[in-house]
Amino acid sequence: MSRISFLNGQFLPHENCMVHIEDRGFQFADGIYEVTLFKNGRLIDGDPHIERLFRSLREMKIEHNFTKEFITQLQLDLFAKNNMSEGTCYIQITRGMANRVPWVPKNLTPTISATVSLGKKMTEEEFEKGVSIMTHEDIRWKRCDIKSVALFASSFINQKAKDSGFDDAIFVRDGVVTEGTFANAFIVDANDTLITKAADNLILCGITRNRMIAIAKEKGIKVEERNFSVAEMLNAKEVFLTSSSLILRPATKIDGNQIGNGKAGKISRILLEEYKKFIG
Ligand code: PDD
Repeated sequence: MSRISFLNGQFLPHENCMVHIEDRGFQFADGIYEVTLFKNGRLIDGDPHIERLFRSLREMKIEHNFTKEFITQLQLDLFAKNNMSEGTCYIQITRGMANRVPWVPKNLTPTISATVSLGKKMTEEEFEKGVSIMTHEDIRWKRCDIKSVALFASSFINQKAKDSGFDDAIFVRDGVVTEGTFANAFIVDANDTLITKAADNLILCGITRNRMIAIAKEKGIKVEERNFSVAEMLNAKEVFLTSSSLILRPATKIDGNQIGNGKAGKISRILLEEYKKFIG
């Protein structure tokens, strides 16, 4: 059976989901998206994802009439129609179609699309080994808090990392570590304090990030949301990335330097285990 996806009110075979060449998403990256994890018939942190989706729409002034109930149901229906009990849902909303003009036209009908995928599960060995990271200047725009589809800078640097023999990159702006190409970054210092950049316009305030912070606090782990430098990251006991698709991935080598003992650390393990309990 072909995958079923969603486009502008219709559930269609995936290969039939076509968008017009003058869609503003296609021409200007004038759109936003969300990626939500689905497990045991449940959207994981479904509400915060939808709240962030609406925030992104507000910040980009994309007019729409979507409701939280509609977006939730649409995602659940997609998993049901694809007979999936777990996976991820990608949902995207662009401003819609208009003749190509430099300004932002009003009263357009937004284009909404969604699709589901199984995703790749991380094995215990992959977790233990962690990933090798390269630091790179953060060349993105200064509204990284919006989950916009303008991801070329992230994709470009992610590929540059791979071409240079690394798994991924972590961005650095003015000496401050911001985040990964598609994930938030955390470090654990010598006192087992968990540190991640405070949410501002320079990072995406990750839903997994927020959940990990909440779990850490519940487990009595001290959390600081503040800037940290590359030097602090290289001296950390643990470094890890979080996102809805990665969940938690230790970074055990950065710019060729071993982090901690070169394997997944204690706090990373606790947080991943507790997160797994949370998602059931
Ligand atoms: N990306 N920062 C960036 C730049 C991201 O692209 C993502 C997620 C995150 C983590 O956010 P969350 O925990 O809400 O998934 C942080 C998604 C998964 C993607 O683009 O595929």
